[in-house]
Amino acid sequence: MTQDELKQQVALKALEYVVEGAIIGVGTGSTANFFIDGLATMKDRILGAVPSSEASARRLAGHGIKLFDLNDIQELPVYVDGADEIDASLAMIKGGGGAQTREKIVAAVARQFVCICDASKKVAQLGRFPLPVEVIPMARAQVARELAALGGRPVLREGFVTDNGNLILDVHGLQIADPVALETRIDGIVGVVTNGLFAKRGADVLLLATPTGVETHQRA
Ligand code: A5P
Repeated sequence: MTQDELKQQVALKALEYVVEGAIIGVGTGSTANFFIDGLATMKDRILGAVPSSEASARRLAGHGIKLFDLNDIQELPVYVDGADEIDASLAMIKGGGGAQTREKIVAAVARQFVCICDASKKVAQLGRFPLPVEVIPMARAQVARELAALGGRPVLREGFVTDNGNLILDVHGLQIADPVALETRIDGIVGVVTNGLFAKRGADVLLLATPTGVETHQRA
């Protein structure tokens, strides 16, 4: 099976978690795109979706799925999204596509976070994937110094502006022994909007595509 076939397989499995008659939170990225395409096959059985990026909003709208503003809804039963890395506690690194701020906001509202990944994303310890940090443009250099003081090597994502008009520093070389502590520490740096660690609010369910089928892991 190719990696795309694995992503599609796990994305379609996630359709089982969609609550009929409700609004669904939808993530961003290539795996989330397969989920959006699958969601289109049952669009008449949901009220609509809250997207976590402009790209996902366009793809959902292209399928005729109604979009909702997060401010206009009271509750969100489920959020489905991919990850760049995920560990055994279902803490994640996200933001490879630069959408982690809106992803984290939608995930915060959702009762259940269903992460969809192919097996290459499962790691023993987070940190090989550079940690994306969204920063206010005028704070870029100062935040980079602070991230370097934490032992990382921040690299500006060239030519990239987030949906919120900000920049991304990809931080290489971090030893992430305590994801919750590091997430809190980086979010405390003035000028940081959001970092890509999803540890305080990790996934509740991991659907992991392997060559022998989709594994289901629950948060302990
Ligand atoms: C988007 O900013 C990311 O958080 C994605 O969810 C993550 O990078 C996974 O993307 P893929 O499914 O494309 O690997």
